[in-house]
Amino acid sequence: DSQIQQGQLGDVQFDPSLDQNPDSQRKNDHIRLALAQQQAPKRNAFDDVRFLHHSLCAVDQASVSTATQVCGQDWPLPFYINAMTGGSAQAGSINAQLATAAALTGLAMATGSQHAALRRPELEPTFTTVRDHNPNGFVFANVGPTVSPEQAVRAVKMLAASALQIHINPVQEAVMTEGDRDYGSWPERIRAIAAAVPVPVVVKEVGFGLSRPTIELLATLGVNTVDISGRGGTDFAVIENERRVDRAYWYMDNWGLSTVLALLGASQPLPVQGVELLASGGVRSPLDVVKALALGAQAVGVSGHFLATLTAGGVEGLVDEINDWARQVRALMSLLGARTVADLRRSDLLVTGSTAEEANLLGVD
Ligand code: FNR
Repeated sequence: DSQIQQGQLGDVQFDPSLDQNPDSQRKNDHIRLALAQQQAPKRNAFDDVRFLHHSLCAVDQASVSTATQVCGQDWPLPFYINAMTGGSAQAGSINAQLATAAALTGLAMATGSQHAALRRPELEPTFTTVRDHNPNGFVFANVGPTVSPEQAVRAVKMLAASALQIHINPVQEAVMTEGDRDYGSWPERIRAIAAAVPVPVVVKEVGFGLSRPTIELLATLGVNTVDISGRGGTDFAVIENERRVDRAYWYMDNWGLSTVLALLGASQPLPVQGVELLASGGVRSPLDVVKALALGAQAVGVSGHFLATLTAGGVEGLVDEINDWARQVRALMSLLGARTVADLRRSDLLVTGSTAEEANLLGVD
C-alpha cells in the first residue's frame, strides 16, 4: 500500500454554500442518519445462514479466483461500493474519497442519485469527482424511475458511466414528507430508460428487497441485471421517519424482504431466466459476501459499512478494509472448496430461524 500518503488522499473540499437548498440538506441528513445506524451493527438474516463444514474439501488459496463478471465486464473482486451520495459539499468530499479508494483497490462503485445535479447544475462537481478520482474504474450512474430517458442519458454522460443503476424506493418515498406519491408509471419509465441509455441498466432496491415477481416483471421491461438490495442493513424507512417532525411512520422498521430471503426467492427453484443477480443490504463482513455469492449473487454491494469505515479511518482505512476483505473472501472460498464464484453455488448451506420459516412460506428452501 505504498501509494498511500498520509491523510491527503482524495481530500477535496467543496464550497459549503452549495448546500443552501433542500436537496443538499436531505443528502447530509441521509449521511448522518445512515452513519448513526452503523454504530450498533445489527443481527440480520445472514446470521440464519451457515455453511456445512467439510474438513477435507479445502483447495489451495493460490488456486482461487475471486473474479466475477457484471454487466458483461470482468471485475477482479466480487463486491463493490454501492450507491450512496453526491449533491452536497459533504457528499462531494465523500464521493472523492470513495472513488480514490475504489481506484486504489480496483473496486467498482456507484454514486448516489444524480437527481440533485440534474435539477441544479452547480451540484454536478459533487458527482463528477467520482470519475476525476477514478478515471479507468467501473462506475455506476444512479437515477430513479421518475427521470425522463433524456435525463437518464445525461446522468450516464455526466460520469462517463460504465452502467446505470435505477433505484426503486417506494417505501422511502412514501415515508418522506416531500416524497413522490405517484408510482404507477414506474414500470413503463424503467422500460423507456433501459431502451434509451447506451450502457447496461441495473434496477436496484434501497434496502427493502426485490421479490421474484418484481424481478420477473423487470425482465419483461428489458432489464437484464438487478440488485435485490434487501433488509438487514441501512433502513431508509427509519431514516425518513427520523427526518419527519411527527415521526408518523414509527412502525415501519423491518418492512421488506431480507437480502437472504430475496436471494432465495430469486434463485429457487430455478434462477429467473436471463437476469443477472447482484445483492446488497446488510453486508457486514467477508463472510456475508461469500454467503450472498453462494446464494446466487454475481457480486455483492456494500454501502453503510464502507461509509462508516471511511468516516472512521479515511481513505487509508477504507483501502485497508477493502484489501482485508479481498484476502478474506479468498480464504473463505478456499475453505469451501470453491475455486471460482460459480463453484460457491454448489456449497451446502443450512438456513435456519425466521429466514427458514419465511422461505418455507414462499415455497423455497
Ligand atoms: C443509500 N442508498 C442509495 N441507493 C440508491 O440507489 N441511490 C441513492 O441515492 C442512495 N442513497 C444512499 C445514501 C446513504 C447514506 C446510504 C447508506 C445508502 C441505498 C444503498 O445503495 C443500499 O441499497 C442500502 O443502503 C442497503 O445497503 P447497506 O447500507 O445495508 O450496505
